Amino acid sequence: MKHKDIVVSGIRPTGNLHLGNYFGAMKNFLKMQETNECNFFIADYHSLTTHPKPGDLQGNVKQVLVEYLAAGLDPEKATLYLQSDIPETAELYLFLNMNAYLGELQKVTTFKEKARKQPENVNAGLLTYPTLMAADIIIHRATKVPVGKDQEQHLEMTRTFARRFNRMYKVDYFPIPTAYNFGEQLVKIPGLDGSGKMGKSEGEGNAVFLVDDPKVIRKKVMRAVSDAGPTEMNQKKPEAIQNLFTLLEVVSKPDVVSYFDDQYNNCNIRYGDLKKQLAEDMIAYTEPFRERIKELDSNEEYLKKVMDMGAEKARASAQQTLRDCREIIGFRKIY
Ligand code: TRP
Repeated sequence: MKHKDIVVSGIRPTGNLHLGNYFGAMKNFLKMQETNECNFFIADYHSLTTHPKPGDLQGNVKQVLVEYLAAGLDPEKATLYLQSDIPETAELYLFLNMNAYLGELQKVTTFKEKARKQPENVNAGLLTYPTLMAADIIIHRATKVPVGKDQEQHLEMTRTFARRFNRMYKVDYFPIPTAYNFGEQLVKIPGLDGSGKMGKSEGEGNAVFLVDDPKVIRKKVMRAVSDAGPTEMNQKKPEAIQNLFTLLEVVSKPDVVSYFDDQYNNCNIRYGDLKKQLAEDMIAYTEPFRERIKELDSNEEYLKKVMDMGAEKARASAQQTLRDCREIIGFRKIY
């Protein structure tokens, strides 16, 4: 039997999960947790770069935990933990920083963007974000990292830092992790604003969040961008309309989709009807998530148990790595 891949991925504790996240990253995670040794963590160390207040930080962490559990991450299958519960990460980050160079860190796209957007807070944590991310990954000697396009450069640096450590100490210790993606098999979820994909940065009305209550979903869907309707039979759908159909395909029954498709092709479609149907089907689709979110949200005891269990497992793996690293570097044994 081929031994399992060790997977690591971090989740930034910002914002609610929307349908786009669910059908994107989340479905990936759900698949992976079935077949691999997965480590999914909430990246709360990373979030310090923006200086959150303690109360906000805790609130965001809890919200992310609740929503990811509600969406199906299973603490019995994957190791789910908080990054800051594994202080060994900070130690490995320190080691890696000794071999991370100002020039290469300054060249990172996300750093340049952040520095431009928040010139008043260009802190060292922002600069060394890629070394912290590398530490997150190699602390479990991971082989696979599910990442989106925006994180590819960070993963490339992780590979560089892992190789550099191996070379520096003439060891073959860290595996060189690779990107993991079911990208092609996934539906890209469009937003409601007529173009592009669903995302929270595109404005509040563009995304449907799993926590949105039915009233909010109806309002957002009814306001979705459409047009004056087709003028010829079997006309190609413009992007905004195709987007509504793509969403319908995701949450509605096939006969509903083909009903509206026929209506469109015959030029007697009423977008108001389509949107009403889409809203109701979205509400039905997201209902179980909302219920689980509500349940989990009030179950502090269970959430604590999940975090404790994750911390214990993740820490055992991290400490093994640090034990080895300290020995390789020439430090005393303390773990
Ligand atoms: N940088 C990632 C993001 O912005 C989050 C992250 C932190 C991460 N550490 C990681 C992702 C390790 C994968 C592996 O989304």
